[in-house]
Amino acid sequence: MSIPHHVVERVSQLREQIAYHNNCYYVLDAPEIPDAEYDRLFRELQTLETEYPQIASADSPTQRVGGQPLEQFEPVRHAMPMLSIRTETDISDAGAFAFDQRVRRELGLTPEAPPIEYACELKFDGLAINLRYEHGLLVQAATRGDGEVGEDVTQNIRTIHQIPLRLEGCDCPVLEVRGEVYMRRRDFERYNEKQRTQGLPTLVNPRNAAAGTIRQLDSALAARRKLSFFAYGLGEVRGWDIPATHRGILDRLAALNMPVCDEREVVQGAAGLVAFHQGVAAKRDALPFDIDGVVYKVNSIALQSELGFVTREPRWAVAHKFPAEEQITTVRDIDIQVGRTGKLTPVAKLEPVFVGGTTVSNATLHNEDETRRKDVRIGDTVIVRRAGDVIPEVVGVVLSQRTSSVGEPFDLYRRLGGKCPECGSSIVREDGEAAWRCTGGLFCPAQRKQALLHFASRRALDIEGLGDKLVEQLVDCKLVNTPADIFHLTMSVLANLERMAEKSASNILSAIEHSKQTTLARFIYALGIRNVGEATAKDLARHFGTLEMLMHADLERLTAVPDVGPIVAQSITEFFAEPHNREVISALRAAGVSWPETTVEQRAVQSALSGKTFVLTGTLPQMTRDEAKAQIEALGGKVAGSVSKKTDYVVAGAEAGSKLTKAQELGVAILDEDGLLSLLEHAK
Ligand code: IVH
Repeated sequence: MSIPHHVVERVSQLREQIAYHNNCYYVLDAPEIPDAEYDRLFRELQTLETEYPQIASADSPTQRVGGQPLEQFEPVRHAMPMLSIRTETDISDAGAFAFDQRVRRELGLTPEAPPIEYACELKFDGLAINLRYEHGLLVQAATRGDGEVGEDVTQNIRTIHQIPLRLEGCDCPVLEVRGEVYMRRRDFERYNEKQRTQGLPTLVNPRNAAAGTIRQLDSALAARRKLSFFAYGLGEVRGWDIPATHRGILDRLAALNMPVCDEREVVQGAAGLVAFHQGVAAKRDALPFDIDGVVYKVNSIALQSELGFVTREPRWAVAHKFPAEEQITTVRDIDIQVGRTGKLTPVAKLEPVFVGGTTVSNATLHNEDETRRKDVRIGDTVIVRRAGDVIPEVVGVVLSQRTSSVGEPFDLYRRLGGKCPECGSSIVREDGEAAWRCTGGLFCPAQRKQALLHFASRRALDIEGLGDKLVEQLVDCKLVNTPADIFHLTMSVLANLERMAEKSASNILSAIEHSKQTTLARFIYALGIRNVGEATAKDLARHFGTLEMLMHADLERLTAVPDVGPIVAQSITEFFAEPHNREVISALRAAGVSWPETTVEQRAVQSALSGKTFVLTGTLPQMTRDEAKAQIEALGGKVAGSVSKKTDYVVAGAEAGSKLTKAQELGVAILDEDGLLSLLEHAK
């Protein structure tokens, strides 16, 4: 069957457009069309290629989605061996000087001779790949293997959108491009996140992710992991003028849409190498991908040839490493730490290792689910990672090294016998939460400082002067353990504290005294019950009227309060169920903290306006708006900013504007000041 001319035209048009948008999206990181539009073009091309199989082509963008799984990878003999580079083991500046010295000696240069020019680049942490283009078309991609023979991974490499399937404007017989396949950290995180939500295994680190994906026989699976590529050199070349410098080569490759990393520089002599090494070390953590060092290459290709090779390594290049960010060690124990908010975090106690520039003996396991997913057990050999200032973490277990003597699978509740390791209060894990928590908020030493600061804060008991520094001192000197202890502080104790003048001590004492007279809402808020903010505390106070009623309320009664859902209700019952918290509350009341109790009758009256919404507009003759608002709220009403069908009353004063008009339109009751006053009077 011959292919209609218009189909041939359309197919080539689509391939060109898709290749162009691929480049915008994957190489330039600047898409020009929405994803949906790209998908439409892509599907149109796929349909035409299925309909007319003769038109299929190795450089069609449709080749990037993966094909039939392979039985095995075919061996590929490299036309030019793929060498490795010598690694400078001295990670200090001296490593750079040593390399420069060796190069100068090999070239027979005197100390007076001008500095050598070097091309500096990053040492990417992935997998080396040779891309073979013949007449501009990608015909084969191979791993390094033993340097002589690698594996044919063309199908998988085609799924990497950054790698051109055709080199525009280059149809030389052979051009082999060498570089590194790697995974960006963000793509790595995203992939793992997706796996986690589906309960599937996660990848250990970006390097394993890249290597594992390329060695994957099913290219359709490879297509689902987003890999990237950076070119850093050449293999066999026929019919292509090789530029005179390494920098020139990379520039030419970049012009062919080959991804080349921008973090590269040409420098003069050892001092230039050192500056580059230091500069990159400083921004290592800010890069979007992992590197394990930098690479220095003599820039002149002529000098490179002169220097030649020793065994399998060129004399003209060296890798200068950074401190490793990952190491292997063993787990001695698993501890559980209590955070300032009561969150319980499992922490692996490790055989100390030097990683990321320091000795690490503790590494976080994040939470119970993570620990189980990674199946970290006492006695296991694990990979520890410490990148930059990030806290060290256990990224995975080396299962091949697990012995029969390892511990049981991790179970946080069993491990703690259900009790907080700091204070013995019960622990809970809320639905949908990853963390277990201690419920002894008021009592737990780990949460003490946080609890006290919250208790004294302005919207809680409002104890002026009881801030960060003072809480720190009082807790560290064991003068205050629970909020109740605040009320037993004396002049002599306070005045003896460091940097405490007598005047400020007496100010604090009077603020403490003053705070004893509070409201039920403030008191509830001050307790720091999880999920109970200021607004909820007010609702609870209004609804229950007394602390006793609140403390005895079950889930059903709690959820009857407007805006209190099952999670909030659960937090409240858990808080009051903890005897330690009840003890602190009794101690607070015994110390004289009190509030006006409302009687049942008062609350019945209060509810007269409860649930009613008011909108205030214009100027009232007697009252200010704030006064009117306070009185409405005191009787349980709410004041809103705009008029809607849900508004019960609009209180209109002089020069009321659009809100009044809107109220008239919607048929909402309209009051003047007198009307409001009589309503308030009746509600009392
Ligand atoms: S050049 C003849 N440049 O490091 C020189 N290699 O042993 C060939 N690598 O696994 C290598 N970044 O894949 C070169 N900018 C870079 C590199 C780099 C990472 C890898 C390479 C190989 C190892 C070298």
